[in-house]
Amino acid sequence: MPENQVIVIDHPLVQHKLSVMRSKDTNTNDFRNLIREISILMGYEIMRDLPMEEVEIETPLEKMKSKMLAGKKLCVVPILRAGTGFLDGLLQLVPLARVGHIGLYRDPETLVPVEYYLKLPDDMPQRRVIVVDPMLATGNSAIAAVERVKDSDATDVKFMCLIASPEGLKAFHDAHPDVPVYTAAIDRELNDHGYILPGIGDAGDRIFGTK
Ligand code: URA
Repeated sequence: MPENQVIVIDHPLVQHKLSVMRSKDTNTNDFRNLIREISILMGYEIMRDLPMEEVEIETPLEKMKSKMLAGKKLCVVPILRAGTGFLDGLLQLVPLARVGHIGLYRDPETLVPVEYYLKLPDDMPQRRVIVVDPMLATGNSAIAAVERVKDSDATDVKFMCLIASPEGLKAFHDAHPDVPVYTAAIDRELNDHGYILPGIGDAGDRIFGTK
């Protein structure tokens, strides 16, 4: 597997929706709908290499061999709370996926992630795991979340975000060179409070309307 992989999903629909989300004039309801729509489009790319198998089926006219998803099952792991914004869309694509949760908050002074909740399915080694959080900012939360996932012996792990910072990408890949990052954009930089510029602001507040 190639190391330090970053896949920027530059599909026009993804880029258009992201631009609308960035605008401070986009309201909570529209923002939430857009993140669901984008997660479907991004999920389509992330699942592009899922293993397939040939099965025999019978159409109304004759038997044929046709392809279906094989073996590997999925687990989506949102980092609470903003990561849950990706859930509806991804579960629409793969309704039988399991969902793990990792609760991390950033200490506002140190920006270090503090874990307050962890619940993962038992069979993580058998699953493709997609850890999701809209913003890869300092990278600290993503690094900690993927560490927890690896502790559960998962080996097929990907990370999905909406916007990454160059600093966050570097830190993430230094810690987890084997985990590819799927993102819709790489923005300019982090500010002193760990927010991505130009970014979208606080993703959790924008999804849940808390500010
Ligand atoms: N978390 C957010 O919600 N936004 C940022 O810009 C960085 C971290």
